[in-house]
Amino acid sequence: MLITMGFVLFVLREAGCDYNITTNPDKSLVVVSVSPQAVTLTPSGEITLTAAVTHFQHDSTLTWSLSDPNIGQLSSNGGTAVYKAPASVPGTAMSVSVLVQSVEDPTKTAQAVITIVNPDTSGTTGVKVLLSPLAITLSPGKSQQFHATVLGLTTTTVTWQLVSGFGTITADGTYSAPGSPASLPTFGIIRASSTADPTRYADATITIMNSADSLVCFERDILPVLTGSCGMSGCHTPGAGPGDLTSYDGILSRVVSGSARSSRLYLAITNFDIARRMPPPPRSILSPVQIIAIGRWIDQGALKTSCSAGSQCDTTSVHYSDFVRTTMATYCIGCHTGATAGGGIDLSSYGGLAKVTANGRLMGSITFSQGFSAMPKLGPRLDDCTIAKIQAWVNRGYPND
Ligand code: HEC
Repeated sequence: MLITMGFVLFVLREAGCDYNITTNPDKSLVVVSVSPQAVTLTPSGEITLTAAVTHFQHDSTLTWSLSDPNIGQLSSNGGTAVYKAPASVPGTAMSVSVLVQSVEDPTKTAQAVITIVNPDTSGTTGVKVLLSPLAITLSPGKSQQFHATVLGLTTTTVTWQLVSGFGTITADGTYSAPGSPASLPTFGIIRASSTADPTRYADATITIMNSADSLVCFERDILPVLTGSCGMSGCHTPGAGPGDLTSYDGILSRVVSGSARSSRLYLAITNFDIARRMPPPPRSILSPVQIIAIGRWIDQGALKTSCSAGSQCDTTSVHYSDFVRTTMATYCIGCHTGATAGGGIDLSSYGGLAKVTANGRLMGSITFSQGFSAMPKLGPRLDDCTIAKIQAWVNRGYPND
């Protein structure tokens, strides 16, 4: 559906509670993401990046650019781009960012940080410091042990130093990223210098960033926000007229798994019209961080994720040719291939899967949503991480990649 002007008005009626939901095409909640978010290459190395736009109104196109156009080459084609590192790199390593920008809302961007590491850090005199790893990406608060030794001198010990950036490094080479840096991503350099000859050293680059594609944790990031902002007495408590927002099932009945923009809950919290949005005045609107988390949670399939499962589920780089096809082969093809395929649906090929993905049946059935046959039929529900990974692939436009 193409909405180019004006407002779209929905009137929702629930027992004892009438309210209108109006979406404002001018108030953008476009979210841009890129994967992978951090890469280490050697000179002349190449990487293919994939980007996605969600929550757009009418234009899902992206523009790609380099933070420094002199460092390597970028050739883009819609949602993917190939970055090629320069043939030589001065010093130990250098970094460049690939920036992805929404055309509909140019304020919405994402970036992938590329570090190009010189495999040869040798000096000319035969003395050299060997350092490992030469480039790392860490989440805030995480630590990394570095190792170094000195070749060409009898004393092989090194002294550790944080040359730039935030965090700390101990005398034995353990670097700890700051817990809550002022901005992300942020960069740093650590140096290992020969204790005997401090003019000999090697540097490693550190990138600190959040993994924006990780699974939103329902129990930590969603339930407390909705219970706290909506579940007060007289509002969305169990059994109350307007419906319960203090439990997973209550919340789920107000969302369309996989599509925040089609979800009543999401439309209500993003309503630009202050008289109609939820929570109603005089209560304040949810914070942008909360709204984005709720939108991402719905887009990821509105799963009942607990934090331990959520933080370990990596939904970046899910491809048809590996994860999705393997999952179908493991759980579905037994009933969904050949002349007797269940429901006439053949899931042994990309084409058959694309059909039920396009009409929403795939996500509806594997999330056990109302109105769909629960799949795998008669079997237990797939685990949250598997569902989230398939949802991430669907959100990327379910490519045959
Ligand atoms: C034990 C056999 C069996 C297994 C295993 C199975 N299915 Fe099905 N599936 C069926 C049958 C039979 C139908 C058609 C009748 C129905 O809807 O129950 C069907 C229907 C469907 C539909 C249409 C549902 C709807 O509501 O329109 C989808 C989509 C689907 N399956 C996907 C899957 C996926 C994905 C898996 C693996 C995660 C899977 N199935 C595993 C037997 C199975």
